[in-house]
Amino acid sequence: MQEQIKKINSLEELQALYTATFGKNGTMTARLKQMATLDNDARVALNKENTTLRELFKNRQMELETAELNKRLASESIDVTLDAEPENNGSIHPLTHTLMEITSIFESLGFEIFTGPEIEDDWHNFTALNTPSYHPARDMQDTFFFENGNMMRTQTSAIQIRAMEAVGAPIKMVGVGPTYRKEMDATHGPTFRQVEGLYVDKNITMKDLLSTVHAFLEKFFERDIEMRIRPSYFPFTEPSIEIDIKWNNGKWLEIAGAGMVHPNVLKNCKINPDEYQGFAFGFGMDRLAMLKYNLPDLRDLYSGDIRWLKNTGF
Ligand code: DAH
Repeated sequence: MQEQIKKINSLEELQALYTATFGKNGTMTARLKQMATLDNDARVALNKENTTLRELFKNRQMELETAELNKRLASESIDVTLDAEPENNGSIHPLTHTLMEITSIFESLGFEIFTGPEIEDDWHNFTALNTPSYHPARDMQDTFFFENGNMMRTQTSAIQIRAMEAVGAPIKMVGVGPTYRKEMDATHGPTFRQVEGLYVDKNITMKDLLSTVHAFLEKFFERDIEMRIRPSYFPFTEPSIEIDIKWNNGKWLEIAGAGMVHPNVLKNCKINPDEYQGFAFGFGMDRLAMLKYNLPDLRDLYSGDIRWLKNTGF
């Protein structure tokens, strides 16, 4: 029995053996009941055995309890030698980074940065931009409308109107922000960002437009840029052009729409077109970011996927 107690490794087993020995029907209990029938020596021996066994049980119980406590302490303790979880530092989103670069370049060229409401009224988004309600150019800019006729703005050109209304002429401004159109495929999302430039002053010519856009592109891409222009059409500029740049693979890429501000637009903003002329241009900001940072899929920019963001290296 004594050896048996020492070998027991769990409190449950120890308890079971204790009950089998000292419980109501236990072996020792039965023997103790027979005490009166024993001679003196046998009584002394039984008493001693009884005491020794109880002590052994008690000691083993303490040992097992201590072992269990130690085990629990070991498993609960904090291992200060473990590496800390890597910290998830925030970073600047590639679009925000691009926006900061663009605005700082235009500021260095003397342009003031403007923003405007993303929910626009018909006047600022279309009508003042020489695009009356019957104009077919509206078709290309289907958007999300509110019941009162307001809409998610389709172009940052609306910011030019607000800026001219607020400041008048001369004015040299860049408007930036999200724009919305009802379209969704691999290269178009319902939201994208535009950068809009406007310079209205006396004797502004197409040459000023081209040199400004060229200076911006060379600063933004940090290299020499070969640029070409093609005739185009926008209701709010006359003449209108599209600007292409020669990319690394030797191909021409369309990068901006631009032109000389249409006299009707100036008139709509209470600026006299006989006194003032202006140029305007519009870039797709997402396009600029994708080209500069080699980002293959436009949709990644808006996915909010933190794994992708980490891989862009910003
Ligand atoms: N608003 C035009 C668009 O969304 C882009 C644009 C073209 C802006 C010519 C301009 C401009 O200011 O002069 O497609």
